[in-house]
Amino acid sequence: MVKKVLLFFLVLGWVSGGRAQYWTIHVDQSGSSDFKTIQSAIDSVPSNNSNWVCISIKPAIYMEQVTISYDKQYIYLKGEGNINEEKASIVWGSSGGLRSSPTFTCLADNIKVENLNFVNSYNYPPITKSSYPTIPAVAARVNGDKMAFYNCGFYGMQDTLFDAMGRHYFKHCIIEGAIDFIFGAGQSIFEECRIVVNVGKSLEEGDTGSITAQGRSGANDSNAFVFKNCNVTGNGKAILGRPWRDYSRVIFFNSSLSDIIVPPGWDSWFCGNHVDQLTFAEINCYGPGSNTSNRVAWEAQLSQEMTDYFVNITNFIDVDQWVSNQPL
Ligand SMILES: *[C@@H]1O[C@H](CO)[C@@H](O)[C@H](O)[C@H]1NC(C)=O
Ligand SMILES: *[C@@H]1O[C@H](CO)[C@@H](O)[C@H](O)[C@H]1NC(C)=O
Ligand SMILES: *[C@@H]1O[C@H](CO)[C@@H](O)[C@H](O)[C@H]1NC(C)=O
Ligand SMILES: *[C@@H]1O[C@H](CO)[C@@H](O)[C@H](O)[C@H]1NC(C)=O
Ligand SMILES: *[C@@H]1O[C@H](CO)[C@@H](O)[C@H](O)[C@H]1NC(C)=O
Ligand SMILES: *[C@@H]1O[C@H](CO)[C@@H](O)[C@H](O)[C@H]1NC(C)=O
Repeated sequence: MVKKVLLFFLVLGWVSGGRAQYWTIHVDQSGSSDFKTIQSAIDSVPSNNSNWVCISIKPAIYMEQVTISYDKQYIYLKGEGNINEEKASIVWGSSGGLRSSPTFTCLADNIKVENLNFVNSYNYPPITKSSYPTIPAVAARVNGDKMAFYNCGFYGMQDTLFDAMGRHYFKHCIIEGAIDFIFGAGQSIFEECRIVVNVGKSLEEGDTGSITAQGRSGANDSNAFVFKNCNVTGNGKAILGRPWRDYSRVIFFNSSLSDIIVPPGWDSWFCGNHVDQLTFAEINCYGPGSNTSNRVAWEAQLSQEMTDYFVNITNFIDVDQWVSNQPL
């Protein structure tokens, strides 16, 4: 049995060169390529697809709501061009529902996304005071397991990134918003990301924003948001997070926090009578917003062992090495 498994991996390794191979289809609004819209390219992927397919997207603004349904796994969405050039952006301005408003919805497992912007243009870009009522307006709903985002931007005001469920890895991404703008029950590491708070430009004078609203609902659930080597900047005032569900977990590790973070750091929201069930922690953070001497008394202190578990990608999200096996 052991030998058979080993042989299988050797053969696979030989065929794929260690990393998954893929074929590529192209999206270009000019019509000179395979597809004019991102959705039509996704729709062309066969149901129950099991081979990686790259959808290569020419930089432009795509005004469409895009969905990757449950049966379209192994899609690699890739914005063309150098990371310093203008990225392809998917823009839509729906608001209200957490399931109906997202500009981008991904329900499938095994997805890689690179070099793309997701914008919910309802109340974004921010102007002084919200032009419309402050209600949910999601830029991306990430609902599948084993999804990785590299060099992507998520832009909105309230509920920008619905990191709903599944294991996710975000690297070199920008996430912008004012209220609960990274929320859900995802099991995620955000590494070297920029978190941009836009409270001063979006909300009423004196309002405090919240970066996270993590949604862990059970004592044994594996999800949490881990921010590793990130930078928090912006305008106005904000807390690092508040619990969307009873067992919420958020960890800021080795991250730079600007003076927009208010001294209490966190809020108990409607979990005030059982703050002991929450795990909100800061480890080795630095910058003017990182002074923890006036933090809420119930901020968690993590052991070295727990810290090593959460901040190590292998331990927390990649035991089965899906991150390192996605196509390059
Ligand atoms: C895809 O897989 C599902 C579940 O296994 C199955 O019900 C469905 O018929 C399949 N679809 C196609 C087009 O093969
Ligand atoms: C965070 O800020 C520092 C200092 O400005 C910079 O060197 C670093 O590259 C930034 N990191 C990210 C992830 O933006
Ligand atoms: C959580 O896990 C512990 C230890 O395995 C178990 O005793 C407990 O019943 C579980 N709780 C729930 C809500 O599943
Ligand atoms: C902490 O962040 C700094 C600056 O981004 C980086 O140079 C250093 O390697 C990080 N340390 C760890 C343990 O990740
Ligand atoms: C942190 O804040 C406390 C209370 O305001 C202050 O006494 C202390 O000097 C601050 N520490 C640093 C390193 O700035
Ligand atoms: C992360 O965890 C894995 C598995 O437990 C371990 O092999 C690796 O050395 C750890 N990496 C770091 C940087 O501690």
